[in-house]
Amino acid sequence: GCSHGRPALTLIDNIRVSTELLQALDTFDAREDDVLLVSYPKSGTHWLAEIMKNLYSRHSDNHSAGLVTLTSSLEFGDLSKFDELRNLSSKRLIPTHLSYDMIPVQFKTKNCKMIYVIRNPKDTAVSMYHYYQQNPHLPNVEKWSSFLEIFLKGEVVYGSWIDHVLSWEKNKSNENMLFLYYESMKKDLPKHVKEISSFLNISVSEDQIREISKKCSFHEMKEQAEREKVNTNHTVCALTSDRKLIFRKGVVGDWRNYFTSKQNVQFDAVFKEKINSSALASYVEYE
Ligand code: A3P
Repeated sequence: GCSHGRPALTLIDNIRVSTELLQALDTFDAREDDVLLVSYPKSGTHWLAEIMKNLYSRHSDNHSAGLVTLTSSLEFGDLSKFDELRNLSSKRLIPTHLSYDMIPVQFKTKNCKMIYVIRNPKDTAVSMYHYYQQNPHLPNVEKWSSFLEIFLKGEVVYGSWIDHVLSWEKNKSNENMLFLYYESMKKDLPKHVKEISSFLNISVSEDQIREISKKCSFHEMKEQAEREKVNTNHTVCALTSDRKLIFRKGVVGDWRNYFTSKQNVQFDAVFKEKINSSALASYVEYE
């Protein structure tokens, strides 16, 4: 039971997400210039974060570097997190995997900008399956078929994929919200870097867009993560600090290598109806 009427996280006992912090979320002081970076886990959060970071530090001088801070995930850590964020004098880019109903109310009343990235749930499930296998902060799953079962029931960390999407979809017409698709970013990244820059009112040249797109390619980001020391504590996912766990394959359609045709039928049976009721989810390329 939850005293605030909030939906509970499935894995509330995950040591990296504190219950006290979740319960205190509505006391969080948002600022009008905060930007929220929102996603269901494994949808391309780090990719989007890297693009945003690069957009804000596009000037080659170092002066702009301190003006914007990409914080750790909103729900990661304990209550001291709020002081930490309060003490930042720079603009804050704040990542979160929470559903719309769970985010601090001030983000809504202050009309903060929010970007939501969405990915084909079949690929998201496959990506999350590997995360469960490799991330010591997540429960063990033995086989793909067992993971798919709990994913379909929504009994995974952060709950059901479709519920997450539906919660954010309520804001589809809000001009302070931008919705991005992983698959579309894979197809034409420069186009979306441009889209993000105009949404955030950042002026960039075509050259800078090309440069940022190159820097934010899967291979560049993976190599960069491998060069770094372990546990450098700068992921944007509350479920790990190890960036090496993030860059696995980075492709569209890997689900075909995991779903049997029976599992695909089962998936569609569970998701189709709900997906048809969601304009946002219907845009996802499922096949
Ligand atoms: P895979 O496991 O399918 O490879 P998140 O950042 O939300 O945790 O999502 C992680 C997923 O995004 C992983 O998917 C990861 O490989 C992929 N990803 C990370 N950076 C990427 C990039 N620059 N381009 C494409 N995919 C990327």
